[in-house]
Amino acid sequence: MNNRQQFFVHVDLGGASPVVAGFHEFDSRTNIGTFIYGRSYCENPNAFALDPINLPLIYEKHFQLRSTRINSFAIPGVILDGGPDEWGRRLLNRFSEDIPITPADYLVMGSGYGVGALYFSDSPEQPAQTAQADNPDINQLYQSILAFDSAETVNKNLQHLLMPSSGIGGARPKTHVLYENRPYIAKFNRRDDPFDNALAEYCMMKIAQKAGIGCANVKLVSTQEGNTILVERFDNPQRQNSQPRRHMISINALMNIQDIPDLENASYDRIVTLGKKIGRENNINAEVFKRMLFNIAIGNTDDHTRNHAFLKNTHDRNYALSPAYDLISLPIRIGSHAMNIGPFGQTPTLENIRSAGRLMGLDNEQQAKCAQSIVDNLQNLKTTLCQFNMLERDIDYLMPCFRYAELASSLCEIELRLD
Ligand SMILES: Nc1ncnc2c1ncn2[C@@H]1O[C@H](COP(=O)(O)OP(=O)(O)O)[C@@H](O)[C@H]1O
Ligand SMILES: [Mg+2]
Repeated sequence: MNNRQQFFVHVDLGGASPVVAGFHEFDSRTNIGTFIYGRSYCENPNAFALDPINLPLIYEKHFQLRSTRINSFAIPGVILDGGPDEWGRRLLNRFSEDIPITPADYLVMGSGYGVGALYFSDSPEQPAQTAQADNPDINQLYQSILAFDSAETVNKNLQHLLMPSSGIGGARPKTHVLYENRPYIAKFNRRDDPFDNALAEYCMMKIAQKAGIGCANVKLVSTQEGNTILVERFDNPQRQNSQPRRHMISINALMNIQDIPDLENASYDRIVTLGKKIGRENNINAEVFKRMLFNIAIGNTDDHTRNHAFLKNTHDRNYALSPAYDLISLPIRIGSHAMNIGPFGQTPTLENIRSAGRLMGLDNEQQAKCAQSIVDNLQNLKTTLCQFNMLERDIDYLMPCFRYAELASSLCEIELRLD
């Protein structure tokens, strides 16, 4: 019977199965959620803090949060990162025999199907569900995804194809797959998408990669139903080379965003500040600056705090920026980013970009160098998109997204021609 108020958190430390790290409980009388680490975890020499900033590894400390509109069960952000978001929740609502009610239900029911190293269960002894992705027929999978997304009946035999997406974040249709024996997140188009999202995301990831941005590897698979983008998983889900799954933490969790007003303080330069606190990457400032500039140049205004993450190193307790993911031009809210670009807010202006760069410790010359690789790879964009087989109609639809690309060209004083 669902309506969980509490659950155990397990973490993959590389052994045969995940170990219990802690326990979370929500008290509906006080509206307070409490997380505590378990004793055995604190005594484990391989243990690490699930969130090095907001949940330091301290035995018997009660980490408490108050319920908010966006975090009704007052669960630490890093734990929510390991569970489903809009897409996975819709799936659990539709196909579970026992309907999930609380945020804890979604975490436990989607456990094993999420990303990162965390798992959730009802008791410390109960082994956390560690699901493996399948090697499906992508065309059949596409049909099931489209039917589900359009609220049509999904053949009972095919429902199992969809379940691997029940623990994963984000709102777009997607699922975990093995493709040529490598693990990917497959992202699909919707029937009512105004353009080919999967292809557009593929193009932007490829262009970002060529511009020297550290990106997840992507593949494009074309089926009768349409294109799908396969994004190679970087959290080591198959536990290769006897290494555990990589622990992931989003910027959302690290910035401790609990309610809408907290989002006002989310900015790109804070990613650099946080990265320096929890890791030792020398070039993190240039990398974040490039990602910011790229998002501005392609009009990726959906650059919110769950679309940036850190991965824990396998060999020590430091963290490094995860490869970039979810890069796509969106012809909505053009010129208004989800995070602050710089001290002057979410709008990309030259002054705001330059100030952000300075806050990251980059002088004009360094900023120009970052911009150059982006501008070079956006030259003749229309031709590039044609070469990727994007329909002319879609290219025309997306071109307004590149309105702010000229800011990148102003930084490096190179003329940019998009056609
Ligand atoms: N390559 C990847 N490896 C591991 N986790 C990933 C990868 N790409 C995305 N994720 C995780 O999956 C979530 C959803 O993916 P995303 O591409 O952002 O989907 P959506 O377009 O629905 O927002 C992300 O927030 C991130 O936590
Ligand atoms: Mg996303």
